[in-house]
Amino acid sequence: MGYLVAGNWKMNKTVGETLEYLELFLPAVKDLTKVEIMIAPPFTALSSASIKLDAARREGEYNVKLGAQNMYYEEKGAFTGEISPLMLTELEVEYVILGHSERRHIFGERDSLINKKVISAVEHGIRPILCVGETIEEREQGRTLSVVERQIRNGLAGVERDLVYIDIAYEPVWAIGTGVNATPEQAQEVHRFIRSLINEISKGNDHKTRILYGGSVNEKNARELIREPNVDGFLVGTASLDPERFYKVITEVLEV
Ligand code: PGA
Repeated sequence: MGYLVAGNWKMNKTVGETLEYLELFLPAVKDLTKVEIMIAPPFTALSSASIKLDAARREGEYNVKLGAQNMYYEEKGAFTGEISPLMLTELEVEYVILGHSERRHIFGERDSLINKKVISAVEHGIRPILCVGETIEEREQGRTLSVVERQIRNGLAGVERDLVYIDIAYEPVWAIGTGVNATPEQAQEVHRFIRSLINEISKGNDHKTRILYGGSVNEKNARELIREPNVDGFLVGTASLDPERFYKVITEVLEV
């Protein structure tokens, strides 16, 4: 699989702002076909973005996939405020970010819930990006690899045979939105560990699982990070909010 560069917009951009963004962004990236590009707008903008991407596809400018930032695991029912996999597939959403550190730490999502979502996404043909990563305290206590191992083993329980349909994002919590990215060496250490772990879990059948790095990725540090073996793309927050900056991150990846 080629590189994936995904933009996580978090709770940013109205429908109008999403459409303005795509107006600039889609023509700019239409020829950048060597890298897979995904944007994850908030739920309220997914429908408009989907229609816009559909129109762009017909004009030959389609090179951007749609992702959701979260999902509940049931198809429908009394789950106030939640969004189901069927609601996403109807909009041709191809990816879903699951277990993001903000979901874990602000909204209290635990491995067991995230695992149910991962299973449901795979069952519905939506490719999950399972996010894992340690807090600064866990890193300082030397627990980085054990935390990541626990999140991955628990998050992937029951879908060990389906790893070809899943990507992982390593996002150290201390690097998210702080402007302090992991060094290439720090990223590499964890990515290498994740690669061997998913190799073991999948019994060698992991060749399509990408390991993305996330945490203060921008147009200045993207190249040195993507050069590392086992870094198969990025999950970009802040720098993905500006179409020009996101475009630059993507072109840095293409330089490698
Ligand atoms: P950031 O966010 O690029 O702003 O650090 C990354 C993420 O949370 O996915």
